[in-house]
Amino acid sequence: MTLEFRKITANIGARVRGVDPTSELSDDTVAVLRSALAEHKALVFDSSDLDTAGQERFASRFGRLTTAHPTVPGGETPHVLDVDAGISKANEWHTDVTFVVTPPAISTLRSIVVPPYGGETLVASSAAAYRSLPDPLRAWADTLWAVHTNVYDYAEPRSDSQSNYREVFESTRYETVHPVVRVHPETGERGLFIGGFVRSIVGLSATESRDVLRLLQAHVTRPENILRWSWEPGQLLVFDNRITQHYAIDNYDDQPRRLSRITVAGDIPVSVTGERSRALTGDSSHYSAIPAEVAA
Ligand code: SIN
Repeated sequence: MTLEFRKITANIGARVRGVDPTSELSDDTVAVLRSALAEHKALVFDSSDLDTAGQERFASRFGRLTTAHPTVPGGETPHVLDVDAGISKANEWHTDVTFVVTPPAISTLRSIVVPPYGGETLVASSAAAYRSLPDPLRAWADTLWAVHTNVYDYAEPRSDSQSNYREVFESTRYETVHPVVRVHPETGERGLFIGGFVRSIVGLSATESRDVLRLLQAHVTRPENILRWSWEPGQLLVFDNRITQHYAIDNYDDQPRRLSRITVAGDIPVSVTGERSRALTGDSSHYSAIPAEVAA
């Protein structure tokens, strides 16, 4: 079968046919998938036979895996984060784990239990968002840096399990300064690198930061920039975490919803002038080691 990518929207998303994620992927296939991911930002595979070991094998063909999370313990294996609506719901726009200096390059989500209605995952192209900025705003965004942290400042937990989850999530404080515009390490494409873990823009007051972030984030969440993925069981959604944001819609009442997340380690983000992100607080090397050539 030939490998085929069917676009889902103009700006983001393609369905993949002709490759079985449970099989041994050749280097050529991985290279084609990597370049399709760079182009489409999010890829969806049908693979009802994929289990945790298969998802790990698949993800590790794209690079070293992170552990499950800097603070939340792993599920079935140390690389797996259980995404379970009974424990927490990710209904905030975010890019995974941007509060550390090496956020994941690629996130993989495998559907296990899907609700009978709702429960879609939205994935937004922050490259399309960057392109849609008016010229003066785009030029200004290129110069900005933002502080990201895992310490929440929004909605109080609504249940004991959410409150326990948050306690674990925040058990070690992380703070990192990233460029607001990140240059993709493989393609050189620019994208807005913001999302729910951003607390402030360097040099601006809290109010100014909020206003600027609202303005930029409005471009990320334009409907034209979003893939709205309606899950069926046994699917794999792979997205480029360096140039997307995502949001799990909480529109399925108290129905069960379970996914399994495995992420591929990323590098240190780089700004349009070639400057790298800096960790301010917290050592995340147990989660995702800093490449030796950078650490040296
Ligand atoms: C996540 O943010 O990792 C989970 C997304 C989802 O539940 O759809």
